[in-house]
Amino acid sequence: MTKRQIHLSAYLVGTGIHVASWRLPAAPKNASIDLEYYKRLAQTAERGKFDIAFIADSLAVNEDSHPNILNRFEPTTLLAALAGATSKIGLVATASTTYHEPYNLARLFASVDHISGGRAGWNMVTTGDATGETGRNFSREAHVEHDHRYERAEEFIDVVQGLWDSWEDDAFVQDKETGVFFDPTKMHRLDYKGKYYSVQGPLNIGRSKQGQPVIVQAGASEPGQRLAARTAEVVFSHVKDFARAKAFYQSLKSRLPAYGRTPDELHILQGISPIIADTQEEADAIHRQLQDLLLPEQGLRFLSGYLGKVDFRKYTLDTPAAEVDFPKDNGIQSHFEWMTELIRKKNPTLRELYTLLEGGANRELIGTPVQIANVLEKWFTEGAADGFMFIAPILPQGLEAFVDKVIPILQDRGLYRKDYEGDTLRDHLGLRKPENRFARQSLPWTQLTQG
Ligand SMILES: Cc1cc2nc3c(=O)[nH]c(=O)nc-3n(C[C@H](O)[C@H](O)[C@H](O)COP(=O)(O)O)c2cc1C
Repeated sequence: MTKRQIHLSAYLVGTGIHVASWRLPAAPKNASIDLEYYKRLAQTAERGKFDIAFIADSLAVNEDSHPNILNRFEPTTLLAALAGATSKIGLVATASTTYHEPYNLARLFASVDHISGGRAGWNMVTTGDATGETGRNFSREAHVEHDHRYERAEEFIDVVQGLWDSWEDDAFVQDKETGVFFDPTKMHRLDYKGKYYSVQGPLNIGRSKQGQPVIVQAGASEPGQRLAARTAEVVFSHVKDFARAKAFYQSLKSRLPAYGRTPDELHILQGISPIIADTQEEADAIHRQLQDLLLPEQGLRFLSGYLGKVDFRKYTLDTPAAEVDFPKDNGIQSHFEWMTELIRKKNPTLRELYTLLEGGANRELIGTPVQIANVLEKWFTEGAADGFMFIAPILPQGLEAFVDKVIPILQDRGLYRKDYEGDTLRDHLGLRKPENRFARQSLPWTQLTQG
């Protein structure tokens, strides 16, 4: 039996996740709208044998948004382009259940799955929006309330997966002699009627080489974990503390049997933002350079966009975060709870809070390749992760350093693949191709034609 292996996803976002990364002298301009640049990023991740190249998304921006998301591509369009520039790596993008119709979304991801030869995945989000602005881009007065978003998502995913089974794998017989294009017994109408959605089907595209796109999810709240336990095959989590990460891992995995699933049917990838250099001093210097480029008002405004409406003009970066009244809002619940606990335990200033939240925070992850590899090995072998979402503070350098320096160490330790063993995203993740749910009910085509 092959030894359990680390799975990796690369979060591709402009010049990196650090809010000041675009100001570094070497940072390319217009990175988040440059297709050639994204192709190189995806190819670098593929050189590192990553399972996934990931494109995040949101549906509203404002003056406080992260610079790398102000001017960027629609993710499924970008995935289709990246499919042509790569041949193995899985291609996953975010799309919201709150602001799509299931039919449109099923069609988009099924198309990317075909275009890429079975390498697509959908990061199903309900959209956490602390400002409520997303709703106003979609003819609504406010953002849909948290638990209500998840209730809709539960139905949404059933419709999408049902539509993806509209056609059995051998439905399109295309018999030129008889003039029969498809086998009608292998076409299935969904006829879904629920509380929120009513969808007839069938979808106007069939199943791909891997059957269906892989379902990815990132909700950490109670309803988020319920949805993940029932439907997700990969879960992105972003817990920076080992004990909490382990607790989350156990909590989510222990929910699977209730849905008839085994723990290896869902991979939990923990978000990491390491700063890698040959020496500790160099890594610290890179980190310091980034932090120095952070404008005070930018750091404060970014916190505001992240955590809800606080008038940060009243404060400086040196104000203790405990003095700020953060409202519990309709945004990302798990972030809010984690931040509240962090403030209680560490009593940070707002500058330190920003660093803790976004700046490549975890001290253990600022260092040498061996040090980073040790942290990943510990989290992986001691039950806190099945792999990692690599969210580089600086792109492209951070990804290149990881691929060239950390991955060979993981490979030498037998923790990570030396090459891809299959062609589809399901192959990379060791997930089985889902059976078509309607297949067993069908009459054989020959029986029908003999009539
Ligand atoms: C690695 C990672 C990537 C994420 N990407 C997105 C994204 O692209 N768009 C989005 O709206 N939310 C994204 N999220 C946020 C989640 O969808 C979810 O809103 C969040 O984890 C909190 O969920 P909760 O409200 O269930 O706690 C991401 C989360 C993680 C950990």
